[in-house]
Amino acid sequence: MCGIVSVLSLDEDCILDRILGAMERLEYRGYDSAGIACIDASAKLHRVRSVGRMAKLRDAVRTDQWSSINGGAWIGHTRWATHGQVAERNAHPHVCDGVAIAHNGIIENYQSLKNELISAGYEFESDTDSEVIAKLIAYYVKTRGLQFEEACRECMHVLQGTFAIVAISQNVPNTLIGMKLGSPMAICIDGQCRNFYIASDAIAMSSLSNSITYLLEGDFVVATRTQGGITYTITSSDGLEVERGVEPNKIQASCVGKNGYESFMLKEICEEAIVARRTYDTFDPRIIDISKFSKVSLIACGTSYYACLLAKYWIEALIKIPTDVEVASEFRYRNPVMVTSALYIFVSQSGETIDTLCAMRLVKERSCTTLAIVNVDGSSIAREADITIITPAGPEIGVASTKSFVSQIMMLLLMCVPKERVDIVQIETAINSVLADKHNMEEIARFIVGSRSVFYIGRGPSYPIALEGALKMKELSYMNAEGYPAGEIKHGPIALIDDEVCTVVIAPHDEYLDKTISNMQEIIARNGSVLLLASQDFREHMREISSHGATECLFLPTLHNVYNPFVFGVAVHLIAYNVAKSIGRDVDKPRNLAKSVTVE
Ligand code: G6P
Repeated sequence: MCGIVSVLSLDEDCILDRILGAMERLEYRGYDSAGIACIDASAKLHRVRSVGRMAKLRDAVRTDQWSSINGGAWIGHTRWATHGQVAERNAHPHVCDGVAIAHNGIIENYQSLKNELISAGYEFESDTDSEVIAKLIAYYVKTRGLQFEEACRECMHVLQGTFAIVAISQNVPNTLIGMKLGSPMAICIDGQCRNFYIASDAIAMSSLSNSITYLLEGDFVVATRTQGGITYTITSSDGLEVERGVEPNKIQASCVGKNGYESFMLKEICEEAIVARRTYDTFDPRIIDISKFSKVSLIACGTSYYACLLAKYWIEALIKIPTDVEVASEFRYRNPVMVTSALYIFVSQSGETIDTLCAMRLVKERSCTTLAIVNVDGSSIAREADITIITPAGPEIGVASTKSFVSQIMMLLLMCVPKERVDIVQIETAINSVLADKHNMEEIARFIVGSRSVFYIGRGPSYPIALEGALKMKELSYMNAEGYPAGEIKHGPIALIDDEVCTVVIAPHDEYLDKTISNMQEIIARNGSVLLLASQDFREHMREISSHGATECLFLPTLHNVYNPFVFGVAVHLIAYNVAKSIGRDVDKPRNLAKSVTVE
């Protein structure tokens, strides 16, 4: 949620391009506005902000003023609005008396700090919580006679909430400061010590350096530029100077291109078969044996939560261990009863979702075993869990999660079934055949477009797939879409059914099929339009089904029961993609969303 990048450089040129490139890679963290501030070689402060995507900011810096800036200290920010609507005055960096800051996170005590600063005569131009940071630093410099660095340290003690902050000052143009508490932050320096970077994540740094250092909670970093090079120090929360490990940055910028696809989302859906196979190939069953635990709890958010729901069916049916699944934002605040003999599994694509991270920290405090299934190596959840398994989906850039869902469910399945008994060839072939069916998917999209709303229904493991289909549909197309257990639709939602409502029935050939088809009949009997997603071998039975109402079918490969979620999952991804595309939505960056949700 919000991306930060900053650089202190001895280089004369190309810095603007570098920072813009890094900000573009960070856009997945927020893309409603963006801005840059820079202190040039003559200690002059420049700032530019614009509402909308990075392309707008690129246009805004196509001026002589920006192209002529050499060297300096730079900070950049891509925003996902928390406090204050999307407007230029609310975009970062925020500036006060020559101090410029960019912030990711939420300052919970901002209102009291703001009141104090207003009493001291400061006027606020934005509605953000972040503006108090720039003002507070400037206030401490002015009223307490503190140097910029001390003022930042003091500010860090006073702020409550979560933050990753970068700050620069006209008074000390050779200094760049970073502060981390609760929001991710990493640093890197190039081999010649000519460029020092602070950013939200490894993706931002991917073409800047081959190595990366992750800061820990409470870390305060000061980088200083001299003619001889750039040096930096890190101070931990107890005030001691510390060293943090330098690791290779495994993310390479070349991995995050569209590779000829018209969108990241389409590319990522088309990788789902490869990702299923790669997950299978890399899974090592020795890492975890679920059967040793008395109970399993799975905790996650969004699509990752649906992967967990699916795993509950598998763990209980195949390993026969009681399993519960919970949304992280609920789990962490309801005083859950935890048992040390249980395994707590945290699933997250980004590894930074704050609710999942904090839920995991809560479990760790109670000395229970935590296992993280995470797609981003080096992310906070990956680093803090007792046991971490990285899903090898590769960088996922489209905001809506697709290929990482497939990798998560494959990983979870492999924890329930001996690897040699999983027929990866059958799964891979089936996914590929769904992916190849492009023409049919476009037809299906036309059937749904124009509906007032869309229900997705399914039973058993098809219920989480219904939820996933509905989530993808609403986030990509902005159509009202809801997922329901098929048996539950008659307990209320059926009142909404008419010929303008489309119900997507997830009905693979499994033990639930007859009951799901009965629920479908109930909808057809009420003039609801129905899109049936069924296994290929159901085709002949379809003729017997009532042909009243608008009914469309998509037949998918018939598989062993356990594998159905893979092909039906890919199908609901493709359907949502095609609907959104056909009505002209931005599938990679749907409105109001962000990929990495680092605020509560
Ligand atoms: C956001 C994304 C979703 C994702 C969810 C959980 O809401 O838009 O696609 O499923 O966060 O994210 P995580 O990174 O923890 O899987």
